[in-house]
Amino acid sequence: MPNRTFKIFRFNPDVDKKPYYKTYDVPLQHGWTILDVLNYVKWEMDGTLTYRRSCRHGICGSCGMMINGINSIACERQLTEYKGVIKIDPLPGFEIFRDLAVDMDPFYAALKRVKPWLINDDPPPKKERIQSPEEFSEMGSSIACILCACCTSSCPSYWVDGEYLGPAALLKAFRYTFDTRDKGFAERLEAIDNKHGLWRCHKITNCYTACPKDLNPTEAISKLQRKVVSEKW
Ligand code: SF4
Ligand code: SF4
Ligand code: FES
Repeated sequence: MPNRTFKIFRFNPDVDKKPYYKTYDVPLQHGWTILDVLNYVKWEMDGTLTYRRSCRHGICGSCGMMINGINSIACERQLTEYKGVIKIDPLPGFEIFRDLAVDMDPFYAALKRVKPWLINDDPPPKKERIQSPEEFSEMGSSIACILCACCTSSCPSYWVDGEYLGPAALLKAFRYTFDTRDKGFAERLEAIDNKHGLWRCHKITNCYTACPKDLNPTEAISKLQRKVVSEKW
């Protein structure tokens, strides 16, 4: 395969006055993903390049970044999807630690606000808390979220309001609210029913477009909004 040019965002706040793009001509191999390219650059060309990755299989959610202007996870994006020069940036909307690694603390803090765990003080049954297939389907595919932050990072409402819970945290609130075993809706209501919660969403659907797992936070937010309204009035 011929070499391919990559323009990669670089910024080391300890030494750089401002961010810049560094160009790398990379000899490619068949079957490579964008993550394979980054690994090649780091291991063979420039060991200073900083980015996150772990599983390499679309499971851990750590390799979220912006590739040619669209958020995704690098290990799931095949090179064959792109033509010409490929530009790689960190996830927008978060503070940059270094190069493609951003500060994920606000993302996890928002997640914690919606109490992303099963709340049920009933005495536990002898075995597991049973759920029928129909009850399970109420959560939809929301359980498949890998917390990559591609959705929250692409949300204009989050860009203007850093306190906004964002689509990933709201999808998690949906996942537990519509889990028939969970009884924590009243506790979560305080976190989601305010100006930094559900009502900040303007249905722009960037989150849906960005999700590498084809999840639909916009739809989940709408269902949560309807539930909140029906419970209150
Ligand atoms: S649909 Fe809502 S949560 Fe999703 S990107 Fe738009 S404003 Fe953000
Ligand atoms: S909803 Fe999709 S884009 Fe958002 S964190 Fe989960 S997997 Fe990532
Ligand atoms: S390295 Fe785990 S999702 Fe990409």
